[in-house]
Amino acid sequence: MAAAWSLALALSLLLLSISTLVNTLSTNYYDQTCPKAESVITSVVKKAMSNDKTVPAALLRMHFHDCFIRGCDASVLLNSTSKNQAEKDGPPNISLHAFYVIDNAKKEVEAMCPGVVSCADILALSAKDAVALSGGPTWNVPKGRKDGRISKAIDTRQLPAPTFNISQLQQSFSQRGLSMDDLVALSGGHTLGFAHCSSFQNRIHNFNTQTNVDPSMQHSFADSLRSVCPIHNKVKNAGATLDSTSTTFDNAYYKLLLQGKSIFSSDQALLNIARTKALVSKFATSQEEFEEAFVKSMIKMSSITGGQEVRLNCRVVR
Ligand code: HEM
Ligand SMILES: *[C@@H]1O[C@H](CO)[C@@H](O)[C@H](O)[C@H]1NC(C)=O
Ligand SMILES: *[C@@H]1O[C@H](CO)[C@@H](O)[C@H](O)[C@H]1NC(C)=O
Ligand SMILES: *[C@@H]1O[C@H](CO)[C@@H](O)[C@H](O)[C@H]1NC(C)=O
Repeated sequence: MAAAWSLALALSLLLLSISTLVNTLSTNYYDQTCPKAESVITSVVKKAMSNDKTVPAALLRMHFHDCFIRGCDASVLLNSTSKNQAEKDGPPNISLHAFYVIDNAKKEVEAMCPGVVSCADILALSAKDAVALSGGPTWNVPKGRKDGRISKAIDTRQLPAPTFNISQLQQSFSQRGLSMDDLVALSGGHTLGFAHCSSFQNRIHNFNTQTNVDPSMQHSFADSLRSVCPIHNKVKNAGATLDSTSTTFDNAYYKLLLQGKSIFSSDQALLNIARTKALVSKFATSQEEFEEAFVKSMIKMSSITGGQEVRLNCRVVR
């Protein structure tokens, strides 16, 4: 009898710990507790976008960074403290911005349903809004993420670098359960936004001992990048848009990539093996196939969970 009880206890403890470790996400997570959360977040994102066209790109990149470090747990949103330098103050933070949009959404959601909606979910939902409101697809975001308590600047070293080659990209993605197909689809996020000169400097100056410019880059395109980003660049915030239609979510990124007009080595690297190259070609010819693949991979990436609590202010742990 006692043995049966302790077995039952052990089993229920095991189930409990599994359910808290793998906090399962669902699309109807807030249906009872905060049914208006999603529409309120959408209107906050819409309003911010109308004032600043760079907001959607910022939100999409912020969500990607969040998910790649400790899972999608809003660790990217935490402020540094006197004892801790947070992710957002780590090295590849240039262009991470628009944190205020998440603050505004959180404020409105807290006023409606206090302590219910996690910052990690707000970020995931905002990224979906950013894509949809830029002319891209929309989708039903699984929710129920929890916010983490740890954010370390040093962890940003785990992010893939723009200089990565295809095997380094593959490794970075597979460590997070993401495939080569996910890599190609998610790189399509570079249909939005902007890059600073330092992020593609390696391709346009002192590329290697033979040549200054990456030979895979189209010549006149390389020339134009070299003129905006001279070797001793003194213009603060100089750089280039990631594709020719940088506020519209479309498949232009893939078309340009095939023409040697991508910005990062990590974009160009997608052409270096047959499988990823074939996908690039497919997405370049079909916006629809790109969108379908992007949504699938976004849901996969944004389902990497990691947190424990629901913060009240997205910048500080509870
Ligand atoms: C495959 C590995 C990736 C690498 C190496 C990479 C690298 C970068 C770099 C270096 C920048 C420019 C930073 C700057 O100079 O300001 C950037 C911008 C951006 N990335 Fe990526 N990225 C990757 C994947 C992704 C993914 C998966 C997404 C989202 C699905 C994404 C979305 C963006 C967006 C939207 C911007 C523009 C940000 C802005 O304009 O504020 N990237 N990325
Ligand atoms: C977080 O940091 C930002 C920028 O340094 C500052 O404006 C803001 O007041 C801080 N917020 C909190 C809650 O500490
Ligand atoms: C980026 O990090 C540096 C320190 O590494 C910090 O001074 C700067 O404020 C950070 N920028 C943003 C936008 O958070
Ligand atoms: C990618 O870069 C790594 C590190 O520099 C190197 O070891 C590897 O051989 C490279 N792989 C390819 C396919 O170029």
